[in-house]
Amino acid sequence: MKLLKGEIISNDKLNENLYKMTIFSPYVVKNCIPGQFVNIKCSSEGSLHPLLRRPFSIHDVEQQFKVFSILYTIKGIGTKYLSLLSSGDLVDFVGPLGNGIKISGGEKKDYLLIGGGIGIAPLFYLAKYLVEKKQNVFFAAGFKNNSYLFFEKWLLSLKIYYEIFSEDGSHGEKGMVSNMVSQRIDDFKNYEIFCCGPLEMYKALQSIFLINEIKAYALFEEIMACGVGVCKGCVIKVKNNENKNGFDYKTVCKDGPLFNLMEVIIE
Ligand SMILES: Cc1cc2nc3c(=O)[nH]c(=O)nc-3n(C[C@H](O)[C@H](O)[C@H](O)COP(=O)(O)OP(=O)(O)OC[C@H]3O[C@@H](n4cnc5c(N)ncnc54)[C@H](O)[C@@H]3O)c2cc1C
Ligand code: FES
Repeated sequence: MKLLKGEIISNDKLNENLYKMTIFSPYVVKNCIPGQFVNIKCSSEGSLHPLLRRPFSIHDVEQQFKVFSILYTIKGIGTKYLSLLSSGDLVDFVGPLGNGIKISGGEKKDYLLIGGGIGIAPLFYLAKYLVEKKQNVFFAAGFKNNSYLFFEKWLLSLKIYYEIFSEDGSHGEKGMVSNMVSQRIDDFKNYEIFCCGPLEMYKALQSIFLINEIKAYALFEEIMACGVGVCKGCVIKVKNNENKNGFDYKTVCKDGPLFNLMEVIIE
């Protein structure tokens, strides 16, 4: 992990509220793994407003160009600032951060990646990484509507099996991705499962996997301050039966963002 400055190669608007920013950084490209994130200063040089850096998952890495990308939705002051930057501008960031997803490769396995909304961002990098390691990938993505139409082209480029669901039926099959998982749960018993999405999706998946005694991992988000495990501002509750409360507090930034979904207490 390092404090870095990187040149923006592109900052493309993908839909009304969603952008993809590509940043030149040989250090991040060399050292990151899927599931990790960067903490970006979202204000101009000399300005401290907003004071806290904003965390974004590493969404893609292109080794040959030494660039990585983030995919971000505009939420407030920091993401609005990012959306106004252009190619040639510099961004100040810390990374790569977090525990990430280590894949040893070797024996060929089946992987199920379940993404909800902007949760597809880190899973795209994971899918690409798994393809490079010659693993079988099934990407199941769920959206509210058709605002992520472009994503299908990206999945096609990876040449993996995928299914898309939207709540209003305007993209892919109508319905929730968690319903598909529930209906076909027997098919996934021997899969390695990774999820990223909203807490409602995690709640649904957690109960499906618990009943069926299937293990799955999920990338969690919390509002962050330091980003390196010091301030304890980003804690979540993780089950621990040896503790008298039945749980421990774990930092999303350092102990996570990847956790065993079965162990997280979602409130
Ligand atoms: C590990 C990690 C990875 C992330 N990866 C991505 C990503 O790939 N793409 C992406 O678009 N976003 C991602 N986020 C969320 C992103 O960090 C927030 O959207 C961003 O910090 C908002 O900053 P802002 O200044 O624009 O909004 P603010 O002005 O700070 O807040 C606007 C609204 O967004 C809410 N908000 C702020 N931070 C978060 C947060 N961390 N989680 C949920 N709600 C928040 C606030 O409560 C408020 O309602 C990630 C968060 C974490 C912790
Ligand atoms: S943000 Fe400070 S401990 Fe996680």
